[in-house]
Amino acid sequence: MGKTDTIVRTAICLAVLFLPGTLLADKSKKEGYSALQSADPSLYSGTESCRACHKEEVAAYDRGPHWRTEESNKHKGPQWQGCEACHGPGKAHVDSDGDVSKIIRLKNLSAKQASERCLACHEKSEKHANFVGSAHLANGVGCTSCHSIHTPKVQHDLLQAAQPSLCYQCHRTAEPDFSKPSHHRVNEGLMSCSDCHNPHGSFLPHNLNANYTQGQVCMKCHVDTAGPFVFEHAPTKEQGCVACHSPHGSTNPHLLTRPTINQLCLECHSTILAKSIAPGAPTFHNQAVKYQQCILCHVAIHGSNTDPTFFKR
Ligand code: HEC
Ligand code: HEC
Ligand code: HEC
Ligand code: HEC
Ligand code: HEC
Ligand code: HEC
Ligand code: HEC
Ligand code: HEC
Ligand code: HEC
Ligand code: HEC
Repeated sequence: MGKTDTIVRTAICLAVLFLPGTLLADKSKKEGYSALQSADPSLYSGTESCRACHKEEVAAYDRGPHWRTEESNKHKGPQWQGCEACHGPGKAHVDSDGDVSKIIRLKNLSAKQASERCLACHEKSEKHANFVGSAHLANGVGCTSCHSIHTPKVQHDLLQAAQPSLCYQCHRTAEPDFSKPSHHRVNEGLMSCSDCHNPHGSFLPHNLNANYTQGQVCMKCHVDTAGPFVFEHAPTKEQGCVACHSPHGSTNPHLLTRPTINQLCLECHSTILAKSIAPGAPTFHNQAVKYQQCILCHVAIHGSNTDPTFFKR
């Protein structure tokens, strides 16, 4: 660490120490959800007690999946059941005819805090195992950014909106890719973002569902490219499919990253590129038109079981 670095850091530390208490003390946003909750059964009044005054929320609750907590969590305390599983102890709120300061209002909590509550029940499922470490939560995108318990636009999975529009709300730069001449038909509804990504975060780069450097995320559907082959084409195994394809969409045919085949191949197979481990194309490949369509001869471009130069599959 350089000297100026140290000075800057010290200055930041001092500034933080002397910030007015009000800036730091927003306790309800800082502490975990559990600090707002209680295990004392006498503070709970049960879902039946909410029905009279919150008809809309109750109706949505009855349509959705969460009423099941009243059955499945019978053996646990009331803090795991019904409305109060999310809104916390409600007796004081009921007794005061609806004092809003006596009930947990999830929309006023931070994304982290609210999500902590959802995860208390949902974390066990494999899909949610790394939500806490995901780029979404780290950037303030919590469960209720995508899900709505009481007013879902899509009842199945209680979504705020259907894919892909749900994702495009924030991922505007992804949208034009799926309108390019060659694209995966996500906008047409034939597949969805979550076929390749886990919106709940994964342990892989870009929240991908499987290890894309080995192409698994793609091989779920493109089994014919999967191999293993006797003669592998190295980039498929090393960089993965994205060495040659743009996964969302491309202005080039077959989602290719380059407009012409020879451009794509010569990026690696060039004798000029000393750092490439790929052999240069032989000198008789004199870039006469005949040789430009590399895959006319090297047809089994993803790998071959019979031919080391990919002439046959
Ligand atoms: C006697 C009527 C009554 C009962 C019973 C009642 N509430 Fe309320 N509740 C209200 C009123 C009035 C408000 C404040 C007005 C509003 O925003 O709807 C309120 C507000 C709320 C809010 C905050 C709304 C917001 O805008 O953020 C939540 C959450 C809530 N109630 C949950 C519950 C739960 C859970 C129960 C059952 C344990 C319950 N209520 C029982 C009357 C009631
Ligand atoms: C699975 C968790 C969960 C359960 C169960 C649940 N709620 Fe909610 N509730 C929420 C969340 C989250 C919000 C905040 C709305 C948002 O962020 O979209 C909310 C909001 C509300 C509001 C405020 C409405 C508004 O416009 O923001 C009321 C009132 C309410 N809930 C009542 C109830 C009642 C009554 C029940 C039981 C019948 C219930 N909730 C069950 C999670 C839950
Ligand atoms: C007390 C436990 C509990 C809490 C807290 C909880 N859930 Fe659930 N959730 C459940 C159960 C049980 C189901 C039904 C699972 C099933 O049928 O397999 C469910 C189902 C769901 C579903 C699936 C809906 C569907 O159509 O299949 C979503 C989405 C969901 N919850 C989101 C949330 C969110 C968001 C929160 C926090 C605001 C939350 N849950 C809090 C227990 C809980
Ligand atoms: C970035 C948007 C996004 C966020 C954030 C998000 N979800 Fe989801 N969730 C989805 C989508 C899209 C689906 C449906 C597709 C799928 O199953 O992957 C889904 C499906 C689900 C399901 C039903 C399928 C299953 O795995 O059982 C549950 C339960 C669920 N989410 C709970 C949660 C909880 C709990 C959180 C917070 C910890 C959360 N989600 C955060 C987008 C999101
Ligand atoms: C066919 C599989 C597939 C589908 C479908 C897909 N993605 Fe991707 N996405 C990928 C892969 C693979 C990467 C990594 C790209 C790389 O390494 O160059 C990626 C990267 C990303 C990134 C990070 C890099 C960037 O471009 O900013 C975001 C954000 C993203 N995808 C969002 C989305 C959204 C939103 C959707 C749905 C509208 C979607 N993806 C659909 C495979 C897919
Ligand atoms: C409320 C806004 C919001 C919504 C809705 C949302 N995202 Fe994100 N997403 C973000 C933010 C913010 C990040 C982190 C910053 C970044 O990488 O862009 C992120 C990150 C990602 C990444 C990781 C990018 C990387 O390079 O590591 C992927 C993949 C992704 N989101 C996919 C999705 C998908 C799929 C959906 C729909 C199911 C979705 N997102 C919905 C805001 C959102
Ligand atoms: C959920 C299934 C699914 C997944 C996962 C998937 N694809 Fe596809 N892919 C398809 C379908 C279906 C088509 C062809 C039909 C069409 O036009 O939509 C296609 C077409 C293609 C094409 C050919 C386009 C053409 O014009 O011939 C390429 C290249 C491709 N995908 C590469 C990938 C890569 C790379 C990945 C991983 C990042 C991937 N796919 C993941 C379903 C999938
Ligand atoms: C070295 C570059 C390269 C790599 C790496 C690569 N591809 Fe391809 N791929 C191509 C070329 C070139 C074509 C066009 C073939 C044609 O026109 O006949 C193609 C065509 C395709 C097609 C459409 C035609 C067909 O054969 O079905 C799909 C689907 C496809 N690739 C999927 C994948 C997947 C999945 C991966 C990762 C496992 C992958 N590709 C890795 C170069 C590559
Ligand atoms: C991302 C870099 C990359 C791209 C793009 C690429 N290759 Fe390769 N290719 C390699 C590497 C690395 C090897 C393996 C070298 C080794 O194992 O010694 C290889 C091997 C080969 C071989 C076998 C050579 C031998 O003697 O074993 C042929 C033929 C070949 N590639 C043709 C092509 C064609 C045709 C294209 C365009 C469709 C292409 N490659 C695109 C990196 C690439
Ligand atoms: C007309 C058919 C044909 C076309 C088109 C063609 N090749 Fe070849 N390629 C061959 C033949 C024949 C060999 C030699 C095979 C052998 O040695 O067994 C070869 C060998 C190779 C090798 C292996 C070199 C080595 O040292 O092992 C590479 C790499 C290669 N070609 C790349 C390309 C690239 C890149 C293109 C497009 C620019 C291309 N080829 C177009 C026929 C073709």
